[in-house]
Amino acid sequence: MTTQRRQRAREAWDEIAAGYDEVVTPTHAHVSKAALDAAGIRPGMRFLDVAAGTGALSLPAARLGAEVVATDISPAMVEHLAARVKEEGLSNVEARAMDGHALELADDAFDVSGSQYGIMLFPDLPRALGEMVRVTKPCGRVFVVVYGNPEEVEFLGFFTRAMRAVIPDFEGLPLDPTPLPFQVADPAKLRQRLEEAGLEDVRVETVAEELEFGSGRQLWEWLMNSNPIPGLLVADTTEEQRAAAREAMDELLRERAEDAEVAVLTNPVHIGIGTK
Ligand SMILES: C[S@@+](CC[C@H](N)C(=O)[O-])C[C@H]1O[C@@H](n2cnc3c(N)ncnc32)[C@H](O)[C@@H]1O
Repeated sequence: MTTQRRQRAREAWDEIAAGYDEVVTPTHAHVSKAALDAAGIRPGMRFLDVAAGTGALSLPAARLGAEVVATDISPAMVEHLAARVKEEGLSNVEARAMDGHALELADDAFDVSGSQYGIMLFPDLPRALGEMVRVTKPCGRVFVVVYGNPEEVEFLGFFTRAMRAVIPDFEGLPLDPTPLPFQVADPAKLRQRLEEAGLEDVRVETVAEELEFGSGRQLWEWLMNSNPIPGLLVADTTEEQRAAAREAMDELLRERAEDAEVAVLTNPVHIGIGTK
């Protein structure tokens, strides 16, 4: 990654780190548990988290007794993660800012390396995966957690429908060519990438991520803090249009919730795992 691109990525994620910590990280607990179970995390294992955000994977791994190194390009994400570690009184997490394309870590150092909703976003995913494999011990495991088919990712569909209720020709996230966050949304492609990185016994498990939202505002906040992309897609809209889109989201969520207090949106998530 060029210095300029790295700088832009850092700044964009720094900007949403506080919101990400508050509203997004807590919603990843279920998927994190599924991934850590699949990887067989046990006390004393050395675990590397790449693109760790504010600790959705690192914190539960540490609670399971792993020795965790949490890395992320955004110093603000790393600061929030470190604050959570301190708050919980955990002594087994080291949080470091670094680019996942060039890990400043020794070869063969970790029992398990994982990246959740992380390297799927990277401009050079094969290189980042290669780095994860490099720093993992022989016979250790490498896993990645990624979103599946964007057409089935409901938070995206709700976002686009709400925006179109206000701006009928709102394009939404262009899907052709495939945007980076969905570069391995096809499980066959994910498997291929893991095998090309030199992993063996590769398997891909698909789980349903369920996200609960009680209002259009809550879904809007989640979207705007989940990734810098939604903010860019609405950058040219007025505050009135955004408020109207939140109202349209309210309506869509009410329809989905029926008589329940919250609406549940479901998204396909692939957990790809292999052995070095
Ligand atoms: C969607 S968040 C995922 C965070 C966390 N793994 C989780 O499950 O909540 C993506 C993370 O990737 C980080 N990131 C983006 N580009 C990166 C890069 N080149 N190297 C390391 N981290 C990167 C961002 O700062 C952000 O924290």
